[in-house]
Amino acid sequence: ISSLPAEKGWVATKLYKYQGFWHTSRQLQGVLSCQKHFQAQDTDILLVTTPKSGTTWLKSLLFALVNRSRFTLTLDQHPLLSNNPHMLVPFLELKLYVEDENPDLSCFTSPRLFSTHLPYISLPKSIMDSNCKTVYLCRNPKDTFISLWAFTNKLRLDEMGTNSLHDVFEKFCRGVSLYGPFWDHVLGYWEESVKNPEKVFFIKYEEMKEQPELHLRKLADFLGCSFSSKEVKENIVESIVEMCSFDNLSSLKVNKEGKLPSGEDNSAFFRNGKVGDWKNYLTPEMVDRLDKISEEKLNGSGLKF
Ligand code: A3P
Repeated sequence: ISSLPAEKGWVATKLYKYQGFWHTSRQLQGVLSCQKHFQAQDTDILLVTTPKSGTTWLKSLLFALVNRSRFTLTLDQHPLLSNNPHMLVPFLELKLYVEDENPDLSCFTSPRLFSTHLPYISLPKSIMDSNCKTVYLCRNPKDTFISLWAFTNKLRLDEMGTNSLHDVFEKFCRGVSLYGPFWDHVLGYWEESVKNPEKVFFIKYEEMKEQPELHLRKLADFLGCSFSSKEVKENIVESIVEMCSFDNLSSLKVNKEGKLPSGEDNSAFFRNGKVGDWKNYLTPEMVDRLDKISEEKLNGSGLKF
């Protein structure tokens, strides 16, 4: 484990490099605990993202999808209407295994839904050894970067001061961001999804935005809970997409006013949810630099943004 000193502005804490990726010390504690103790079950579903790739959206979609027979979508009592998605699908290393080194997970019913930002190389061994399924959502690096920069500034602005776009950009390009290098993270899961498509489902935020119903149906097929023709006729696919849309989730009272137990405002997870917002922030030089890095890093992999 190597470390970088804390710097004013950028998530003002030391960052630690572990298995090739950067973590805060609290995060790292969760990573080590869940690597040691997490026991995957064959029926588990793991949602993996890099920060700001659309984790909150994926959590809501998969929660609604796998629980569609338990909770009627049209009723006001649906858990997504009164809970932030992060409360319904907890992070392994950022919540469960950081609050308790070896938490009791017996209250989770099958299929258990967990999420993580862990790079592929750092996944607990039991995940590799089991037949559990992984859904990996990624987002183009330009929007991911802008979303990340905006999020870190919004979160703890008072304590840490503003992170300048230029400083955060330099670090992001060098791979120094939470769970970065971004490109290595994405490639780890991309390669695994090519080798093992029945275990790892790889999807892009942009594709999901463009054709949400189509991709939700593909996700259901992958997870072994395909929509029946009766459900299709009853527009259940559209209802899930609508319930989990940015406009709907961001307008709910819980997401406008609530806070997570860790202190973040729920609203911080909903900024504008658009593709291409980077055009409002990045200079042509920055765009060029990110494009070059993507080209170099992804060269020959078959993956493109
Ligand atoms: P922007 O900052 O570009 O708006 P994460 O959930 O991984 O933290 O990612 C947050 C990003 O996903 C934010 O992007 C946020 O607005 C967007 N987002 C949150 N909920 C969404 C939804 N239901 N549909 C689409 N995008 C969503």
